[in-house]
Amino acid sequence: MRELSNLAMTLKGSIIREMHTAAAGMTDILNFTVGEPDFVTPQPIIERAYKSMLEGKTFYSQNRGILALREAIHQHHKEVDGTNIEADPEDNILVTIGATEALQLALLATINPGDEVIVLTPCWPNYLGMIAVAGGVAVCVPGYEENGFAPNPEDIEAAITPKTKAIMINSPSNPTGAVLPKSTIDEIAGIIEKHDLFALVDEVYRTIVFDNQKAASLTKYPAIKDNIIFINSFSKTFAMTGWRIGYVIAVPELISKMTLLHQNFANSIFVPAQEACITALEECLPDSEKMTESYEKRRNIIVKGLNDIKGFSCVQPGGAFYAFTNISEFGMPSREFCLKVLKNTNAVTVPGVGFGKSTGRLNLDHFIRVSYATADDKINEFLNRLNDFSQKFFASK
Ligand SMILES: Cc1ncc(COP(=O)(O)O)c(C=O)c1O
Repeated sequence: MRELSNLAMTLKGSIIREMHTAAAGMTDILNFTVGEPDFVTPQPIIERAYKSMLEGKTFYSQNRGILALREAIHQHHKEVDGTNIEADPEDNILVTIGATEALQLALLATINPGDEVIVLTPCWPNYLGMIAVAGGVAVCVPGYEENGFAPNPEDIEAAITPKTKAIMINSPSNPTGAVLPKSTIDEIAGIIEKHDLFALVDEVYRTIVFDNQKAASLTKYPAIKDNIIFINSFSKTFAMTGWRIGYVIAVPELISKMTLLHQNFANSIFVPAQEACITALEECLPDSEKMTESYEKRRNIIVKGLNDIKGFSCVQPGGAFYAFTNISEFGMPSREFCLKVLKNTNAVTVPGVGFGKSTGRLNLDHFIRVSYATADDKINEFLNRLNDFSQKFFASK
């Protein structure tokens, strides 16, 4: 066989997959790795897709996505969602294969090889892979635990060089659940304006915010509206991860270039799934709110539970469904720690080291990610097993 490409040879696999492999063949597993709701998609969404299939809507759609869905997205952001974002269905919206494709297309449309992209860390691991696919260089800016993992805007400013082209912002965040404070978003908006950066604003968890709060959003700043590439998805909001539908809203020129890229990657999205997303926006927001309520209850159980166990500590996440938990008292690297927990408790968690690069004082090896989008009884069982593990561990010291 001839040599494979440098890209193929250098891309790294997900650490989450690695943990699944380690757990393969084990029984009585408690899985706290997966970043997806445990709920099945609400029934009206499923029924709409079924109806659409029975009507024979089995053909390619427009590359940008069916107009009716783009209109529903426009309506949603204009009237329901409070996003101050221009989402003209004709020019500003592209429907994609989840937020994943939207993020990759946004990078491919804005980054030349060697350009730098600022990534607020801890981050979703795919960001680093996507930047590599686009030939860019990821520059990680740390967020510290004592600030609820919010970055210090001065650190962002200090990381900017003449090669910096874009910044990726994800609030609420995977893996920390951090919801960036309005004051931080204000300062980041100022930096984006000052340095004329593209801002990839990934708000796939925007509806999963707790304590009656709303997440501050970079979409609210008129001065940078042309810099914003707003990325959203049906995956987490409506428990539709497997349907693979997301979208991007940006200025027309960017959307038309991303549409050309999308033609080459995907052509278009399955029409019954697109129609089902219209039903999601029009009828299923109450279902989505109920799911958020249940994540909040689970957040309360897991954060208290973890903080009550010796060796574990966890700052209160304001959204999403992740607890980025400090395990530094156990005195071992996060991968080794997760493997030990797996062996002793059959619980699968994800090593913090997979969520970006450790920079500044941020040592990702001091953390694990616990995804708590799972049933209460499993959460309680998980906490019991971790408690046993911790007691035995510290007793043997
Ligand atoms: C921060 C973040 N962005 C994007 C995605 C991808 O979402 P989608 O299922 O819409 O591709 C995920 C999925 O876990 C995520 O955590």
